[in-house]
Amino acid sequence: MFVFPPSIRKIKAAAGLIEQALTQAGIETAALDARLLIEHVCLIDHAGFIASGDKELSDDQLSSLAALARRRMNREPVARIIGKAEFWSLEFSISAETLDPRPDTETLVELALEMIGTRRNAPLRLLDLGTGSGCILLSLLTELPNAVGVGVDLSQAALETARQNAMALGLDRRTQFLKSDWFSSLNGHFDVIVSNPPYIPQAEIDTLEPEVAFFEPRAALDGGVDGLAPYRLIFDKASSYLAANGMILLEFGQGQETDIIEIINRSPMKEQKCSFQLKADLQGINRVIGIEI
Ligand SMILES: C[S@@+](CC[C@H](N)C(=O)[O-])C[C@H]1O[C@@H](n2cnc3c(N)ncnc32)[C@H](O)[C@@H]1O
Repeated sequence: MFVFPPSIRKIKAAAGLIEQALTQAGIETAALDARLLIEHVCLIDHAGFIASGDKELSDDQLSSLAALARRRMNREPVARIIGKAEFWSLEFSISAETLDPRPDTETLVELALEMIGTRRNAPLRLLDLGTGSGCILLSLLTELPNAVGVGVDLSQAALETARQNAMALGLDRRTQFLKSDWFSSLNGHFDVIVSNPPYIPQAEIDTLEPEVAFFEPRAALDGGVDGLAPYRLIFDKASSYLAANGMILLEFGQGQETDIIEIINRSPMKEQKCSFQLKADLQGINRVIGIEI
């Protein structure tokens, strides 16, 4: 069991010991995670961490820190332990029913902004299907000063977290969060529809890394037998909710793009004159499809 020996009291030494323990537990981001746990317990930011290496931790801080380090060694994600994650350089609270926002999903925000182009100051109406923490919708709203947005999710608890995030970012007046099974509770038309739906094939969920398989909410992962069930449901209805010159952007899993293009071509969207583009994430893997009508 991980405990601090009496010789370890200073922040820098504690960070080093946690890093070592996390590395031995097979965690690749050991140094970063050790720092984030210390910042959380000491209520300091990155600059404070750098400046406080020689500062001594109290007994309470050391025991809290050891308990958090043990949770991380059991592969609980650091964002879940500290209850927050960074996305699009913004801070988002996360909870048991929200996905830990992924850097890959920033690719969706980037492509949406590229496609919106010169309309950035327009009074756009956005819709985020499966909003989770609200990270996609709220990040877009920080970049689109006159836009408003609706975020929907099946999870009431996730919607509550998204509302808190909107409030913390000063975006509550431009957002509405609704419980809805994809489009089921929605009316009207949207200029930009975004979604990062669950896309893991059911049988693969238990084979994923422990941080995901054991700690992420199933409803955020489970894309049905082939991982594509949400895309069929979303593309079946999307064209009825898109405004003239509207666009829809969806994140997908590695290698799913061919199947998704086929789903689009078999959906009511094929009746509309639409063009699509793919955008790769930082690893060069196609990650997002954006369709304009
Ligand atoms: C992969 S997570 C994405 C969360 C967040 N948008 C993000 O990118 O971090 C998928 C989200 O879709 C929600 N969801 C799953 N099925 C849904 C459905 N039928 N209708 C609405 N939301 C759904 C889940 O609760 C989860 O919050």
